[in-house]
Amino acid sequence: MAVLLLANIDLEEWFPQLMVQLKKRKPDLDLRIWPECGEPEEIDIVLAWLPPLGAMQKFPNLKLIISLGAGVDGILADPDLPDRIPIVRLVSESQRLQMAEYVALAILLCQRRFIEYRELQRSRHWEYLLVPDASSFAVGILGLGVLGSMAAKKLGNMRFPVRGWSLSPKAIAGVECFHGREQFQVFLSQCRAIACLLPITPETEGILCQETFSALPPGSYLINVGRGKHLVEADLLTALDSGQIAGACLDVFDSEPLPRDHPFWSHPRIIVTPHIAAVALPEEQAAYIVDTIDRSREGRPLKNVIDRSRSY
Ligand code: NDP
Ligand code: OXD
Repeated sequence: MAVLLLANIDLEEWFPQLMVQLKKRKPDLDLRIWPECGEPEEIDIVLAWLPPLGAMQKFPNLKLIISLGAGVDGILADPDLPDRIPIVRLVSESQRLQMAEYVALAILLCQRRFIEYRELQRSRHWEYLLVPDASSFAVGILGLGVLGSMAAKKLGNMRFPVRGWSLSPKAIAGVECFHGREQFQVFLSQCRAIACLLPITPETEGILCQETFSALPPGSYLINVGRGKHLVEADLLTALDSGQIAGACLDVFDSEPLPRDHPFWSHPRIIVTPHIAAVALPEEQAAYIVDTIDRSREGRPLKNVIDRSRSY
Protein backbone atom coordinates (compact mmCIF):
# COMPACT_ATOMS: atom_id res chain seq x y z
CA MET A 1 0.00 0.00 0.00
CA ALA A 2 1.32 3.41 -0.94
CA VAL A 3 0.23 7.02 -0.66
CA LEU A 4 0.57 9.25 -3.72
CA LEU A 5 0.92 13.00 -3.54
CA LEU A 6 -0.92 14.23 -6.59
CA ALA A 7 -0.59 17.95 -7.13
CA ASN A 8 -0.24 20.09 -10.21
CA ILE A 9 1.99 22.62 -8.46
CA ASP A 10 5.56 23.13 -7.33
CA LEU A 11 5.62 21.09 -4.12
CA GLU A 12 8.78 22.72 -2.82
CA GLU A 13 7.11 26.10 -3.06
CA TRP A 14 3.70 25.09 -1.67
CA PHE A 15 4.32 22.33 0.83
CA PRO A 16 8.02 22.57 1.74
CA GLN A 17 7.57 21.31 5.30
CA LEU A 18 4.75 18.84 4.77
CA MET A 19 6.90 16.02 3.36
CA VAL A 20 9.37 16.38 6.23
CA GLN A 21 6.60 16.32 8.82
CA LEU A 22 4.87 13.32 7.24
CA LYS A 23 8.10 11.30 7.25
CA LYS A 24 8.74 12.32 10.85
CA ARG A 25 5.29 11.20 12.02
CA LYS A 26 5.15 8.01 9.95
CA PRO A 27 8.69 6.90 9.00
CA ASP A 28 7.44 3.70 7.34
CA LEU A 29 5.03 5.58 5.03
CA ASP A 30 5.52 4.62 1.39
CA LEU A 31 4.99 8.12 -0.03
CA ARG A 32 5.27 8.68 -3.74
CA ILE A 33 5.14 11.94 -5.63
CA TRP A 34 3.36 12.31 -8.94
CA PRO A 35 4.32 11.49 -11.67
CA GLU A 36 6.69 8.90 -10.06
CA CYS A 37 3.86 6.70 -8.80
CA GLY A 38 5.33 3.22 -9.36
CA GLU A 39 2.81 0.42 -9.92
CA PRO A 40 -0.68 2.02 -10.05
CA GLU A 41 -2.23 -0.99 -8.18
CA GLU A 42 -0.14 -0.16 -5.11
CA ILE A 43 -1.71 3.25 -4.54
CA ASP A 44 -4.53 3.09 -1.97
CA ILE A 45 -4.60 6.76 -0.89
CA VAL A 46 -4.09 9.98 -2.79
CA LEU A 47 -3.20 13.33 -1.21
CA ALA A 48 -4.50 15.92 -3.64
CA TRP A 49 -4.30 19.63 -4.35
CA LEU A 50 -5.26 20.78 -7.86
CA PRO A 51 -4.70 17.23 -9.15
CA PRO A 52 -4.09 16.79 -12.89
CA LEU A 53 -7.45 16.00 -14.50
CA GLY A 54 -7.93 12.35 -15.35
CA ALA A 55 -5.07 11.14 -13.13
CA MET A 56 -7.21 9.78 -10.28
CA GLN A 57 -8.87 7.08 -12.41
CA LYS A 58 -5.51 5.39 -13.03
CA PHE A 59 -5.41 3.73 -9.59
CA PRO A 60 -7.64 0.63 -9.47
CA ASN A 61 -7.21 0.07 -5.70
CA LEU A 62 -7.79 3.65 -4.60
CA LYS A 63 -9.71 3.73 -1.28
CA LEU A 64 -9.47 7.36 -0.21
CA ILE A 65 -8.71 10.86 -1.45
CA ILE A 66 -7.39 13.35 1.11
CA SER A 67 -7.62 17.01 0.08
CA LEU A 68 -4.63 19.11 1.11
CA GLY A 69 -6.96 22.10 1.23
CA ALA A 70 -10.26 22.90 2.92
CA GLY A 71 -11.89 23.45 -0.47
CA VAL A 72 -12.32 20.42 -2.72
CA ASP A 73 -13.34 22.15 -5.95
CA GLY A 74 -9.99 21.32 -7.61
CA ILE A 75 -10.65 17.60 -6.98
CA LEU A 76 -14.33 17.64 -7.97
CA ALA A 77 -13.38 19.40 -11.22
CA ASP A 78 -12.06 16.08 -12.56
CA PRO A 79 -14.77 14.67 -14.87
CA ASP A 80 -13.19 11.20 -14.51
CA LEU A 81 -13.12 11.21 -10.71
CA PRO A 82 -13.98 7.66 -9.57
CA ASP A 83 -17.42 7.41 -7.93
CA ARG A 84 -17.88 6.32 -4.34
CA ILE A 85 -14.30 6.99 -3.21
CA PRO A 86 -14.59 9.09 -0.04
CA ILE A 87 -12.97 12.53 -0.12
CA VAL A 88 -11.74 13.83 3.24
CA ARG A 89 -11.00 17.55 3.31
CA LEU A 90 -8.54 19.43 5.47
CA VAL A 91 -9.96 20.77 8.71
CA SER A 92 -7.41 22.44 10.93
CA GLU A 93 -7.42 24.66 13.98
CA SER A 94 -4.48 26.75 12.73
CA GLN A 95 -6.35 27.40 9.49
CA ARG A 96 -9.46 28.45 11.42
CA LEU A 97 -7.45 30.87 13.53
CA GLN A 98 -5.59 32.32 10.57
CA MET A 99 -8.77 32.80 8.58
CA ALA A 100 -10.46 34.58 11.48
CA GLU A 101 -7.39 36.85 11.79
CA TYR A 102 -7.31 37.61 8.07
CA VAL A 103 -11.01 38.51 7.99
CA ALA A 104 -10.68 40.63 11.15
CA LEU A 105 -7.70 42.47 9.67
CA ALA A 106 -9.50 43.08 6.38
CA ILE A 107 -12.61 44.34 8.18
CA LEU A 108 -10.49 46.77 10.22
CA LEU A 109 -8.81 48.04 7.04
CA CYS A 110 -12.29 48.80 5.71
CA GLN A 111 -13.97 50.18 8.83
CA ARG A 112 -10.93 52.32 9.86
CA ARG A 113 -10.74 53.44 6.21
CA PHE A 114 -7.15 52.37 5.58
CA ILE A 115 -8.10 51.54 1.99
CA GLU A 116 -8.92 55.24 1.42
CA TYR A 117 -5.95 56.43 3.52
CA ARG A 118 -3.64 54.38 1.28
CA GLU A 119 -4.96 56.37 -1.68
CA LEU A 120 -4.53 59.67 0.18
CA GLN A 121 -0.95 58.74 1.09
CA ARG A 122 -0.11 58.14 -2.56
CA SER A 123 -1.18 61.71 -3.36
CA ARG A 124 0.50 63.11 -0.16
CA HIS A 125 -2.87 64.43 0.91
CA TRP A 126 -3.52 64.99 4.67
CA GLU A 127 -7.21 64.61 5.47
CA TYR A 128 -9.30 63.24 8.33
CA LEU A 129 -11.98 60.80 7.25
CA LEU A 130 -15.03 60.04 9.36
CA VAL A 131 -14.80 56.56 10.84
CA PRO A 132 -17.93 54.66 11.87
CA ASP A 133 -17.70 53.05 15.29
CA ALA A 134 -17.31 49.27 15.17
CA SER A 135 -20.63 48.94 17.00
CA SER A 136 -22.43 50.51 14.04
CA PHE A 137 -20.49 48.71 11.28
CA ALA A 138 -22.40 45.49 10.62
CA VAL A 139 -20.40 42.72 8.98
CA GLY A 140 -21.96 39.90 6.98
CA ILE A 141 -20.28 36.51 6.75
CA LEU A 142 -21.32 34.35 3.80
CA GLY A 143 -20.77 30.75 4.92
CA LEU A 144 -20.95 29.76 8.59
CA GLY A 145 -18.97 26.54 8.40
CA VAL A 146 -15.67 25.59 10.02
CA LEU A 147 -13.98 28.84 8.95
CA GLY A 148 -16.88 31.30 8.72
CA SER A 149 -18.22 30.53 12.20
CA MET A 150 -14.82 31.26 13.77
CA ALA A 151 -14.45 34.54 11.84
CA ALA A 152 -17.97 35.54 12.91
CA LYS A 153 -17.18 34.92 16.58
CA LYS A 154 -13.92 36.85 16.40
CA LEU A 155 -15.62 39.89 14.84
CA GLY A 156 -18.35 39.74 17.48
CA ASN A 157 -15.65 39.88 20.16
CA MET A 158 -14.34 43.02 18.44
CA ARG A 159 -17.74 44.77 18.92
CA PHE A 160 -18.90 44.46 15.30
CA PRO A 161 -22.57 43.50 14.87
CA VAL A 162 -22.28 40.23 12.96
CA ARG A 163 -24.77 38.74 10.51
CA GLY A 164 -24.21 35.32 9.01
CA TRP A 165 -25.69 33.47 6.05
CA SER A 166 -25.64 29.73 5.42
CA LEU A 167 -27.57 27.05 3.57
CA SER A 168 -29.22 25.49 6.62
CA PRO A 169 -30.48 27.36 9.71
CA LYS A 170 -27.87 28.08 12.38
CA ALA A 171 -27.81 29.38 15.96
CA ILE A 172 -24.50 31.00 16.90
CA ALA A 173 -24.27 33.17 20.00
CA GLY A 174 -23.81 36.82 19.06
CA VAL A 175 -24.49 36.26 15.34
CA GLU A 176 -27.75 37.17 13.61
CA CYS A 177 -28.22 34.16 11.39
CA PHE A 178 -29.96 33.95 8.00
CA HIS A 179 -30.21 31.05 5.60
CA GLY A 180 -31.21 30.14 2.09
CA ARG A 181 -31.69 32.24 -1.03
CA GLU A 182 -35.00 33.63 0.25
CA GLN A 183 -33.23 35.37 3.18
CA PHE A 184 -30.22 36.54 1.18
CA GLN A 185 -31.46 40.05 0.33
CA VAL A 186 -32.60 40.83 3.87
CA PHE A 187 -29.26 39.51 5.18
CA LEU A 188 -27.34 41.82 2.83
CA SER A 189 -29.49 44.90 3.43
CA GLN A 190 -27.75 45.92 6.68
CA CYS A 191 -24.16 44.81 5.99
CA ARG A 192 -21.51 47.53 5.73
CA ALA A 193 -19.03 44.85 4.66
CA ILE A 194 -19.37 41.25 3.54
CA ALA A 195 -16.81 38.46 3.70
CA CYS A 196 -17.28 35.42 1.48
CA LEU A 197 -16.29 32.12 3.15
CA LEU A 198 -18.44 29.90 0.98
CA PRO A 199 -17.32 26.81 -0.91
CA ILE A 200 -17.66 27.02 -4.66
CA THR A 201 -20.70 25.05 -5.81
CA PRO A 202 -23.12 25.43 -8.73
CA GLU A 203 -25.32 27.53 -6.37
CA THR A 204 -22.57 29.86 -5.13
CA GLU A 205 -20.58 30.45 -8.31
CA GLY A 206 -20.90 34.13 -9.32
CA ILE A 207 -22.72 35.04 -6.09
CA LEU A 208 -20.60 38.20 -5.65
CA CYS A 209 -22.25 40.04 -8.53
CA GLN A 210 -24.01 43.27 -9.37
CA GLU A 211 -27.31 42.07 -7.86
CA THR A 212 -25.62 41.26 -4.55
CA PHE A 213 -23.68 44.54 -4.48
CA SER A 214 -26.89 46.54 -5.16
CA ALA A 215 -28.57 44.89 -2.16
CA LEU A 216 -25.88 46.28 0.18
CA PRO A 217 -25.96 49.82 1.61
CA PRO A 218 -24.05 52.20 -0.73
CA GLY A 219 -20.31 52.41 0.01
CA SER A 220 -20.00 48.89 1.43
CA TYR A 221 -16.86 46.75 1.32
CA LEU A 222 -16.13 43.27 -0.04
CA ILE A 223 -13.76 40.61 1.24
CA ASN A 224 -13.40 37.44 -0.78
CA VAL A 225 -11.48 34.55 0.73
CA GLY A 226 -13.70 31.80 -0.70
CA ARG A 227 -12.88 31.15 -4.33
CA GLY A 228 -12.23 33.42 -7.30
CA LYS A 229 -15.24 32.04 -9.13
CA HIS A 230 -17.56 33.49 -6.48
CA LEU A 231 -16.80 36.93 -7.86
CA VAL A 232 -17.96 38.42 -11.14
CA GLU A 233 -14.85 40.54 -11.63
CA ALA A 234 -16.35 43.03 -14.09
CA ASP A 235 -19.27 43.69 -11.71
CA LEU A 236 -16.84 44.54 -8.91
CA LEU A 237 -14.98 47.04 -11.10
CA THR A 238 -18.29 48.68 -12.07
CA ALA A 239 -19.46 48.80 -8.44
CA LEU A 240 -16.14 50.39 -7.38
CA ASP A 241 -16.47 53.00 -10.13
CA SER A 242 -19.99 53.91 -9.03
CA GLY A 243 -19.06 53.95 -5.31
CA GLN A 244 -21.61 51.22 -4.49
CA ILE A 245 -18.57 49.25 -3.28
CA ALA A 246 -15.99 51.42 -1.51
CA GLY A 247 -13.14 48.92 -1.46
CA ALA A 248 -12.24 45.24 -1.59
CA CYS A 249 -9.73 42.81 -0.09
CA LEU A 250 -9.31 39.80 -2.38
CA ASP A 251 -7.32 36.66 -1.59
CA VAL A 252 -8.64 34.31 -4.28
CA PHE A 253 -9.02 34.76 -8.02
CA ASP A 254 -10.55 33.15 -11.04
CA SER A 255 -7.05 32.67 -12.42
CA GLU A 256 -4.23 32.03 -9.92
CA PRO A 257 -1.58 33.37 -9.92
CA LEU A 258 -3.40 36.59 -10.80
CA PRO A 259 -2.12 37.53 -14.29
CA ARG A 260 0.38 40.40 -14.25
CA ASP A 261 -1.78 42.58 -16.50
CA HIS A 262 -4.95 42.14 -14.42
CA PRO A 263 -6.64 45.45 -13.46
CA PHE A 264 -7.00 44.37 -9.80
CA TRP A 265 -3.23 44.74 -9.25
CA SER A 266 -3.24 48.50 -9.71
CA HIS A 267 -6.75 49.39 -8.58
CA PRO A 268 -6.46 51.99 -5.77
CA ARG A 269 -9.37 50.49 -3.82
CA ILE A 270 -8.42 46.82 -4.07
CA ILE A 271 -6.00 44.96 -1.82
CA VAL A 272 -4.66 41.78 -3.39
CA THR A 273 -3.15 38.88 -1.43
CA PRO A 274 -1.99 35.62 -3.06
CA HIS A 275 -4.35 32.97 -1.59
CA ILE A 276 -2.72 33.09 1.83
CA ALA A 277 -5.68 33.91 4.06
CA ALA A 278 -5.41 30.63 5.96
CA VAL A 279 -2.52 28.21 5.60
CA ALA A 280 -2.51 25.21 7.94
CA LEU A 281 0.63 24.62 10.00
CA PRO A 282 2.59 21.71 8.42
CA GLU A 283 2.88 19.81 11.74
CA GLU A 284 -0.87 19.97 12.24
CA GLN A 285 -1.59 19.10 8.61
CA ALA A 286 0.77 16.10 8.80
CA ALA A 287 -0.81 14.83 12.04
CA TYR A 288 -4.26 15.10 10.45
CA ILE A 289 -3.16 13.26 7.30
CA VAL A 290 -1.50 10.46 9.28
CA ASP A 291 -4.59 10.04 11.45
CA THR A 292 -6.79 9.91 8.33
CA ILE A 293 -4.52 7.32 6.65
CA ASP A 294 -4.57 5.17 9.80
CA ARG A 295 -8.36 5.40 10.06
CA SER A 296 -8.76 4.34 6.44
CA ARG A 297 -6.35 1.42 6.61
CA GLU A 298 -7.68 0.19 9.97
CA GLY A 299 -11.30 0.45 8.79
CA ARG A 300 -12.21 3.08 11.41
CA PRO A 301 -14.73 5.89 10.65
CA LEU A 302 -13.34 8.81 8.66
CA LYS A 303 -13.80 12.42 9.73
CA ASN A 304 -14.68 15.40 7.51
CA VAL A 305 -15.83 13.41 4.50
CA ILE A 306 -17.40 15.75 1.95
CA ASP A 307 -20.90 15.23 0.63
CA ARG A 308 -20.43 14.93 -3.12
CA SER A 309 -24.12 15.69 -3.76
CA ARG A 310 -23.56 19.20 -2.25
CA SER A 311 -20.02 19.69 -3.69
CA TYR A 312 -18.62 20.55 -0.22
P1 NDP B 1 -17.52 24.45 5.35
O1 NDP B 1 -17.96 23.37 4.44
O2 NDP B 1 -17.21 24.10 6.76
O3 NDP B 1 -18.62 25.61 5.37
C1 NDP B 1 -19.27 26.05 4.24
C2 NDP B 1 -20.39 26.99 4.64
O4 NDP B 1 -20.99 27.52 3.43
C3 NDP B 1 -21.51 26.30 5.42
O5 NDP B 1 -21.97 27.13 6.44
C4 NDP B 1 -22.59 26.10 4.36
O6 NDP B 1 -23.90 26.08 4.87
C5 NDP B 1 -22.39 27.35 3.52
N1 NDP B 1 -22.98 27.17 2.18
C6 NDP B 1 -22.66 26.27 1.23
N2 NDP B 1 -23.45 26.40 0.16
C7 NDP B 1 -24.29 27.42 0.43
C8 NDP B 1 -25.36 28.03 -0.26
N3 NDP B 1 -25.73 27.61 -1.49
N4 NDP B 1 -26.02 29.05 0.32
C9 NDP B 1 -25.68 29.47 1.56
N5 NDP B 1 -24.66 28.93 2.28
C10 NDP B 1 -23.99 27.92 1.73
O7 NDP B 1 -16.27 25.15 4.64
P2 NDP B 1 -15.05 25.92 5.32
O8 NDP B 1 -15.60 26.92 6.27
O9 NDP B 1 -14.05 24.96 5.86
O10 NDP B 1 -14.37 26.60 4.05
C11 NDP B 1 -15.11 27.47 3.22
C12 NDP B 1 -14.32 27.78 1.96
O11 NDP B 1 -13.23 28.65 2.24
C13 NDP B 1 -13.62 26.59 1.27
O12 NDP B 1 -14.53 25.83 0.51
C14 NDP B 1 -12.60 27.29 0.41
O13 NDP B 1 -13.21 27.63 -0.83
C15 NDP B 1 -12.30 28.56 1.17
N6 NDP B 1 -10.93 28.55 1.76
C16 NDP B 1 -10.07 29.55 1.40
C17 NDP B 1 -8.82 29.61 1.96
C18 NDP B 1 -7.90 30.74 1.66
O14 NDP B 1 -6.74 30.71 2.10
N7 NDP B 1 -8.32 31.74 0.94
C19 NDP B 1 -8.35 28.59 2.92
C20 NDP B 1 -9.34 27.60 3.22
C21 NDP B 1 -10.58 27.58 2.66
P3 NDP B 1 -24.38 24.88 5.86
O15 NDP B 1 -23.63 25.12 7.14
O16 NDP B 1 -25.83 25.08 6.00
O17 NDP B 1 -23.96 23.59 5.19
C1 OXD C 1 -8.16 26.22 0.40
C2 OXD C 1 -7.08 25.98 1.34
O1 OXD C 1 -9.07 25.38 0.27
O2 OXD C 1 -6.06 26.71 1.26
O3 OXD C 1 -8.12 27.26 -0.26
O4 OXD C 1 -7.20 25.10 2.20
